[in-house]
Amino acid sequence: MENIRESIFGLDTLVKLEDGDMATAINLDNAATTPPFIQVMTEIDEQMKLYSSIGRGRGQKSAHTTDVYVEARETIKEFVGAKDEKYTVFYTANTTDGINKLASALITSKNDMVLSTRMEHHANDLPWRARARVVYAEVDEHGRLKIDDIERLLKIYTGMIKYVTVTAASNATGYINEVHHIAKLAHRYGAKIIVDGAQIAAHREFSMIGCNQDENIDFFVFSAHKIYAPYGGGAVVGLKEELDKHIPAFYGGGMVEAVFDRRVCYAPAPDSYEAGSPNYPGLVSMAAAIKMLKSIGFDYIANHEQQLMQRMIHGLREIPEVILYGDNEYTDDRVGIVLFNLRGQPSLDVADYLAGTHGIAVRHGAFCCHPYVRRLTKEPECIGCTPPAGMVRVSFGIYNNETEVDALISAVRELSMRPNVQRAPTRSGGRKNDHGRPFDRG
Ligand code: ALA
Repeated sequence: MENIRESIFGLDTLVKLEDGDMATAINLDNAATTPPFIQVMTEIDEQMKLYSSIGRGRGQKSAHTTDVYVEARETIKEFVGAKDEKYTVFYTANTTDGINKLASALITSKNDMVLSTRMEHHANDLPWRARARVVYAEVDEHGRLKIDDIERLLKIYTGMIKYVTVTAASNATGYINEVHHIAKLAHRYGAKIIVDGAQIAAHREFSMIGCNQDENIDFFVFSAHKIYAPYGGGAVVGLKEELDKHIPAFYGGGMVEAVFDRRVCYAPAPDSYEAGSPNYPGLVSMAAAIKMLKSIGFDYIANHEQQLMQRMIHGLREIPEVILYGDNEYTDDRVGIVLFNLRGQPSLDVADYLAGTHGIAVRHGAFCCHPYVRRLTKEPECIGCTPPAGMVRVSFGIYNNETEVDALISAVRELSMRPNVQRAPTRSGGRKNDHGRPFDRG
C-alpha cells in the first residue's frame, strides 16, 4: 500500500545528531510505542468540539460524549472478535493497568494459583507475583514457549490453577503463541485464560473466539499506544459474568449503584472497573486507530512486516560481528521483531550510536522481561539488582520501509568496523535516571 506513510504523523520530523547535523528520524522501536495515525489526531480534534462529562449531566455535549464512550466498546469488542454478549469491555490506561486491575479483582487469596510463562513482559508477571502463587512454563533454547510445559504444570496442579496468563506475542522476540490451544488446555484443567494482547493487536487479526468453545479466550488486554493511538488508552475485554463476581482494588465515583454509611452497592461490570472519569481521548483515539487498522487490513500488515523482518535478518547476518537471537530460520510465528548484539559492544552503546549518528531509534537492554532475556542470552541470575545486559531490539510498524531497514543495517555495519569508539553520549542515551543508571525503564 503506497500511501500508508502519509497516514502517520511526524515521519518527516528532523532530529539533531551528535555532530549537530539534522536527520529525519527513523523509528524502529514500534514494539515500545507507535507514532499516531493522522486520522486519530483529526478524530480527537473533532470530538473535542463536543467534549463534556461522561455519563454525568443532561447537556447535549455530555450526551454525545457518553454515546461515543459506549459505542467505542462495541468497536473494541468487534476488533477482538468478541461480539458475544457474554463479553464486556472496560477501559484502562494501558496493558499494565489492565492486568493490574484484573489481578487485583480476580485474585482473592495469596494461595490462589496462577500459571504464567518465562516469556512474559513484567506487566504480565509482577501483578500476579504480588498477589498469588505463580508457576511458570519454560521456553526452549530459541525462546519459544514450551506448550508441553503448560500442560505438565496444569496436570501437576490439577484443579488448583485458577488462571493461565500468557502473552499472545512476545515483546522481545515477537514469537506468537498458540493461545487458543493454550485456552483449551487451561479450560480442560478448570482454569480461565488471560491473554496479554499488547504486542499482537497492531500486527495480526485476533479473535477471542476459537474454533470450539473450549478454545475461547476469557480475558484479553491491550494498549492503545502500540496501535498508533497515543492518548493513554487501553482496554480489557473479558467475561462479564466473571468480572461481575469481583471488584478491582481501585475505588471511586462511577463504580457504584448506591453508597450508605456502612454499606456499598457496587455497579456491575464494566462500571465497577472504571472508577473516576474515563480517559475520553484515550478511548476515542483507540476506536479511531482500530478503524484505520481494519481498513488497512491485517493481511497486508502481517505480510509487509514479515518482509521487513526477513530483509533485516538477512542484512544483519552478513555482518560477522552480529549475534542474532531467537529462531531466524523459521519466522512465520513471529511478529516483526529482530534481536541482536554486536560482539563486544553493550546494547546501550549500539542504540546510542544508531540514534546519535543516524537518527535511528531502537530499544536496547532487557525490554521489561528480564527472566526471558536472561534465558535468550544465557546470562545467569546475579546477586544484587543488576538487570541483564540484554540486546538491541528492532521492531517494525506498518509504515516502515526497506530504505529504513537498509539504513539500520548499514549503520550497524559501520559501527562493527570501528568497535569500542568512545563517543559523546546523545541526549537520550546519556540521560541518567534517579539512581544514576542510563534510562531503561525495565
Ligand atoms: N512493552 C514495551 C516494550 O516492549 C514498552 O518496549
